[in-house]
Amino acid sequence: MEHVMRNAFMYLSKSRFANRAAKKYGLRFGAKRFVAGEQLMEAVAVVRELNAKGIVATLDHLGEFTATEAEAAESAAYCIQTLEMIAATGVKSHLSLKLTQLGLDLSPALCLQYMRNILNVAVKHRNFVRIDMEDYAHNEATIRMFKQLREEYGNAIGLVIQAYLYKSEQDMEQLSKYRPNLRLVKGAYKESSTVAFPAKDQVDANFLKLIEMHLDQGHYAAIATHDERVIQHVKHYVKAHGIPVTQYEFQMLYGIRVQDQRRLADEGYTMRVYVPFGNDWYGYFMRRLAERPANVGFILKSLFKS
Ligand code: FDA
Repeated sequence: MEHVMRNAFMYLSKSRFANRAAKKYGLRFGAKRFVAGEQLMEAVAVVRELNAKGIVATLDHLGEFTATEAEAAESAAYCIQTLEMIAATGVKSHLSLKLTQLGLDLSPALCLQYMRNILNVAVKHRNFVRIDMEDYAHNEATIRMFKQLREEYGNAIGLVIQAYLYKSEQDMEQLSKYRPNLRLVKGAYKESSTVAFPAKDQVDANFLKLIEMHLDQGHYAAIATHDERVIQHVKHYVKAHGIPVTQYEFQMLYGIRVQDQRRLADEGYTMRVYVPFGNDWYGYFMRRLAERPANVGFILKSLFKS
């Protein structure tokens, strides 16, 4: 049953019709649990609250699979506005973004130009931009663009690697010479078993393997998970191998395992929360439901409340 619901949410996450409708009608169906608000200032207020608890953030103006150049330009402008707002308000937050939001499917050259515009602002404010990793179809192009931008912008840019992909270990070996700052995740999209481990325990095992490999290479690791076993494993591993707390951080998503976020920050670890906002919340919300179909309980409650 859980498997069926997972697939159903993954299928729904790609519906352009539902996405358009969701944009019109605002945050609904319990999406507020995972999305900080539709406006930038609402998200900045959330970051301020997190900062007060010793938690840092990465803001993400939601958007993906942009269909027109006008939308891509608008997304790029929003990313820049977000960086400017972070600097103006002094909140502690990076920026996360998706390349398809900046028109990767329309024109890689245009997307690259938008990335440079965004990174110029990030560098001006000594901030950091991380490229999220999307579905497999965009994986190679995303890695290519990261390599180019890493050469140009150094430490101002980071990437995400997904443990469910067979190719990720090899990608990390090839990326190692760039000394990349990587966010390591299990992976959130529906992929075929020709490219991704089909079983959860295989993904979990590869996740630990990639985390250890990256830490051993001495590169910065953002370990993004809510999985308590992985977090405990990492805590023991860094202690046993003398890896300094400045070489890694934990990351979680807004609205998930909130008490654990606080606990890790209180224990002295860098804890960064991914704070998504904006009206293009539908695909992101469906992926959160697919990860844990038990979340449907929240939808039902919110339906009865409204
Ligand atoms: P797992 O799915 O095993 O969950 C462990 C436990 O965490 C669950 O038992 C449950 O208690 C809790 N949990 C997990 N998901 C939940 C949810 N949606 N609702 C409620 N509880 C939940 N993926 C990707 O492909 N590209 C990317 O760029 C990113 N970026 C990213 C940033 C950050 C900061 C995080 C934390 C995650 C991502 N992801 C991602 C998503 C990632 O790939 C993965 O899908 C989720 O983190 C869920 O996997 P866990 O590691 O949490 O483990």
